Amino acid sequence: MARVRIRDLLSGGVVGTRYRVCGWVRTRRDSKGGFSFIELNDGSCMENLQLIADTQIENYEGTVLKLQSGCSLEVEGVLQPSPGKGQRVELKIEALHVFGWADPEQYPLQKKRHSFEFLRTIAHLRPRTNTFGAVARLRNAVSHAIHTFFQERGFLYIHTPIITGSDCEGAGDLFHVTTFDLDSVPVKEGRVDFSEDFFGQPANLTVSGQLEAEIYALALGDVYTFGPTFRAENSNTSRHLAEFWMVEPEMAFCDLDGDMDLAVEFLQYLFRQVLEYCRSDLEFFNRFIDQSVIGTLETLVSQDFERLSYTEAVEILSKSGENFEFPVAWGTDLQSEHERYLCEKTFKKPVILTDYPKTIKPFYMKLNPDGKTVRAMDVLVPKIGEIIGGSQREDDYDTLLERLVESGLHIDDYWWYLDLRRFGSAPHAGFGLGFERLVQFITGMGNIRDVIPFPRTPGNLSF
Ligand code: 4AD
Ligand code: MG
Repeated sequence: MARVRIRDLLSGGVVGTRYRVCGWVRTRRDSKGGFSFIELNDGSCMENLQLIADTQIENYEGTVLKLQSGCSLEVEGVLQPSPGKGQRVELKIEALHVFGWADPEQYPLQKKRHSFEFLRTIAHLRPRTNTFGAVARLRNAVSHAIHTFFQERGFLYIHTPIITGSDCEGAGDLFHVTTFDLDSVPVKEGRVDFSEDFFGQPANLTVSGQLEAEIYALALGDVYTFGPTFRAENSNTSRHLAEFWMVEPEMAFCDLDGDMDLAVEFLQYLFRQVLEYCRSDLEFFNRFIDQSVIGTLETLVSQDFERLSYTEAVEILSKSGENFEFPVAWGTDLQSEHERYLCEKTFKKPVILTDYPKTIKPFYMKLNPDGKTVRAMDVLVPKIGEIIGGSQREDDYDTLLERLVESGLHIDDYWWYLDLRRFGSAPHAGFGLGFERLVQFITGMGNIRDVIPFPRTPGNLSF
């Protein structure tokens, strides 16, 4: 008999029909009348299936009465209406097989609530909890929605490389990739001789697929990439990972306004999809993690985001009278406390800031006629701060060359990037959405380490 998922059984199971279900026991409760209730979960949805087992089952005492949280089971039984509260149907077990026992003395997941800190130390078992099951299903649904959004609009999915020789953001926080024996690295004239290394030059893990996405946008029009990115920033915050996933659309014949319009349409689409397809997981987050998540998403699907310039934002922050940890002045990068103030206190909604000083943004952003600011945009949301960073790209050869030099980068490394401005250059723009920050925003989860299956952060490479 084919196995049916609990999700499908609860939504479309026919009373009176026999089904085979597999999963892990959450709880067992025995009744004096010689029968037991077992809550079974198979990860297909938040809800458990209630199983009823009685003495008609062979070896009821030897198996059913020994079942504990964490055991894996296969059962066959008939679906029946449930007289009890909390579920429409239940499965009356006729046959039961235990695949794997879980010794309650040693199994770390117990019925009580565990702290997220503790669960991080058992990342191999935490997907069996309600919270991490819900996070995994939500990540899956949002990934699917991301592809659907772009595919429906004719964007091509481009697979940009993970290993590169360039530093897109110019920030220098790179993980190096080498096959050198680090105890005896070849040296020439006092410096590491990368000509002997695997690629014959220094290599690193990508911090962004943008530069390669630009190549394809300037040939195919609208493209996107969605992949892992790596940053060796030593930031031990609740919003930084050393390995995270980024969605990066890139559009030819598009300016900063078009870029912002797409970002808003994109986020609103994703919010609408999760409201429609992840209802019970969202209800869980709304109940146990953050009681504002559903209300916020419902508001945002139809509310436009506030748009203003960096300069205007600095004015608002300077006049706010708020005692910030980091002082605000024109020319300094905004901290998340400033970003959050704008979203949570000033405008009470997501904010898009544009036209940042060129000195705090990467070389590739288009210079404004004022010569001081660039066509950048950051999308900021309550509780998180920056969720998207994007820009219109510099499409003028001479200006780009100047910006590369100013930024202290090696022009030779960017010859192909400059070439795109020599041959059929065109206005183009794009952005990067931090996938985990988005999942944090949707779920209300406080720490980014709890919205990715296996977080990589400074000093932590378990699992
Ligand atoms: O603002 P960033 O650095 O932009 C870029 O990398 C551009 N090349 C994107 C583009 O225009 N195609 O990063 C984009 C987003 C941020 O807004 C943030 O949401 C996320 O990536 N992000 C991080 N998420 C988790 N951990 C980190 N260490 C992150 N750094 C950036
Ligand atoms: Mg940024």
